[in-house]
Amino acid sequence: MTNEIIAHRGWSAEAPENTLAAFRKALDAPYVAGLELDVQLSKDGVPVVIHDFTLQRTTNGTGFVKDKTLAELKALDAGIWFGEAFRGEPIPTLAEALALAKGRGTVNIELKTAGHMYPGLAEAAVKVIREAGMEKDVYFTSFDHLVMLEAKSIAPDIRTGLLVGGRPIAMKYQFEATGADVLSIAYPYITPELVKETKELGIGLFAWTIDDVERIRAVAALDSSIAICTNRPDRAREALGV
Ligand code: G3P
Ligand code: CA
Repeated sequence: MTNEIIAHRGWSAEAPENTLAAFRKALDAPYVAGLELDVQLSKDGVPVVIHDFTLQRTTNGTGFVKDKTLAELKALDAGIWFGEAFRGEPIPTLAEALALAKGRGTVNIELKTAGHMYPGLAEAAVKVIREAGMEKDVYFTSFDHLVMLEAKSIAPDIRTGLLVGGRPIAMKYQFEATGADVLSIAYPYITPELVKETKELGIGLFAWTIDDVERIRAVAALDSSIAICTNRPDRAREALGV
């Protein structure tokens, strides 16, 4: 068994993050096992794929994602900021991203929300996943652990992961409370003790976001079951020798 390589926001070092171009490039690489992407809701309740709560950094728009209808978001250019070659690349819907990935890899769907910013996000995303018939191919993850609890209660058949950017606190309690399946953690916090504890709890481990060959090797050496989330799948391939 070799560590899985997951393309963070798609192959985001070589194509604009969270676009179909970035997802396509990642899925075309035979050694990439899946995608990570970020999901929010348009004003009219459609799950769309974009990282920031605001539009300025990765599109030619301004303001908040949540204040724009799908039609308004679709009129924006999410590729030109990255390079002329990507001019006209749109913000994808979750449905479009899943259609592209179907049969080609897993999809780690990060629900980007905090403090009830997007009521109904989990429910809307579950509907899209069911319509795509991809319940077994996806994971939900979020820094908002209450949303993971909500997702699990709406769709117990879809795997969930608790995102943490530091040392996990009361891990056993959190996993018992949420029924989550995976710990998705900033890679510097992965230690042999943490790996042991997750194994004892029977939960999976995702490491993000590692773009350096030596660091990928070091994390992979801790356990072959740790999924490596990277902006640079080519470097992960080099590190893992796959
Ligand atoms: O999957 C984990 C990672 O994507 C979380 O951080 O800011 O890149 O969404 P961020
Ligand atoms: Ca993310």
